[in-house]
Parts: sequence; structure tokens; C-alpha cells
Amino acid sequence: MAADGKARKTPFHVGIIMDGNGRWALRRGMPRVFGHQAGMKALEETVDNAHELGIRYLSVYAFSTENWKRMPDEVAGLMGLFRLYLKNKIEKLHRKGARIRFVGKLDAFNVDILDGVRYAEEYTRENKEIDLIVCVNYGGRQEIVDAVNSVLAEGGGPVTVETFKGKMYAPDIPDPDLLIRTGGELRMSNFWLWEGAYSEYYFTDAYWPDFDMAELKRAVESYASRERRYGAA
Ligand code: FPP
Repeated sequence: MAADGKARKTPFHVGIIMDGNGRWALRRGMPRVFGHQAGMKALEETVDNAHELGIRYLSVYAFSTENWKRMPDEVAGLMGLFRLYLKNKIEKLHRKGARIRFVGKLDAFNVDILDGVRYAEEYTRENKEIDLIVCVNYGGRQEIVDAVNSVLAEGGGPVTVETFKGKMYAPDIPDPDLLIRTGGELRMSNFWLWEGAYSEYYFTDAYWPDFDMAELKRAVESYASRERRYGAA
């Protein structure tokens, strides 16, 4: 935080709840998966835009622990897009100097997806321009429960906020400074529950496929105008 109490102008870590794909598609009389396809394109553009604005970590909520409850054809469509992303988009990310990581309960995915995830993470590991964290089968409550279970498995014992944080899925990733939700809903839906304790929030009515540079700039400008006190007076 700067001495005047203002947030650092550019958020170091921006997290995004990419909501509104389904409504974007329905408005066009198209199936929901068409909206997710457009959402994947918006994600590609947002990585470029975030990098251009100097954002160092970008995390996105691509599939929640609750998303398995959607209709089977939508879940299958999302898995298809996940495969496509791993197959076609990693080289491009690598060339941009992006490091990609997948965070969540990954063992729920098919082995071919897991192989793709491991390859993408390993291939881009040394890249330093921007970190893209894709949260898949992620749920904040599940992450906290998994952390508790890992403490218990090691024999229990009292924890501190710092040692407990070490049990999260990716403790080396700095907490998000700014959390954006598109699609007009005003809730956090189990995203970065622990890590977002002191995040600034920004909501936009724009559906995720329409989230462009102008939208990202508005979110960053809103963040820059805020005063972050982390509970201090
Ligand atoms: C929420 O919109 C969006 C999702 C559940 C999926 C997000 C996925 C992508 C952006 C593309 C996939 C990318 C990768 C890397 C796998 P919604 O369907 O809840 O929209 P609605 O609220 O309008 O119904």
C-alpha cells in the first residue's frame, strides 16, 4: 500500500468470476456452450489486456465444484473446451511469456485432461511476464476443508493464519487485490474465500464474452481510486 493509504494503482493480482456466458448465448438464440466458446475467446483477450495494463497475476474461475450439477451436455461442452484450450492455446501463451497454472481438485478430471494440465504447467513454468491461474473444479469451501484435512493428516496441532495459508492449493500466489464479477450478480459464489478476505470487489453488468479492454480499464480505475485499510482505522 502507498503511504497515502491509496491502493497501488495497478492491482498486482486480479481475479475474475467470468459470469454471463449462458445469457449471452441465449440472447442470440444459441446454446449455452456457444456462450462458453465466446467466453474462451474473451479469456484469451483478457490475458493480453491484463498484461498490457501491468497486471502480474490473473486468476479466473472457469469451473466450480458446483458446476458438475449443470445439464450433462453443458458439462461435456465445457470439458470439450477445456481440452481444446489445453491443445491449442498453450503455445500462444508460452510465446507471450505467460505461466499457466490450474488450481482446484484436479483429480476429478479425466486422465487426458490431467496430462494436458501437467504438460502446460511444466512447459510454461519459467515464464515471468504474467501468471494465469485457471481455477477448475475449484470451491473456496472445499479448499479450506482440504487444508483442515491436511493439517489433521499431519497429526493436527494448532495452526496460525500464516501456517494455515500454507495448506491452501497455491500458497505462493499473492492474495487477489481486485476481484471482478461480470454478468450482473452481486455475490462471490465460493471464489477465493480465504484469499479474498481483503480484496476489493468490482461488479459489472457486462456478460463475460463482452468483457473487453474498456471494461478491464474501468475495473482497474475503480480499484485505483479506493483506499485500502486492511482493517486499520
Ligand atoms: C459462467 O457463466 C461461466 C462458466 C461456468 C464457465 C466459464 C468458462 C469459460 C469462460 C471458457 C472455458 C475456459 C477454459 C480454460 C476451460 P454462466 O454459464 O453461469 O452464465 P449465465 O449466468 O448467464 O448462465
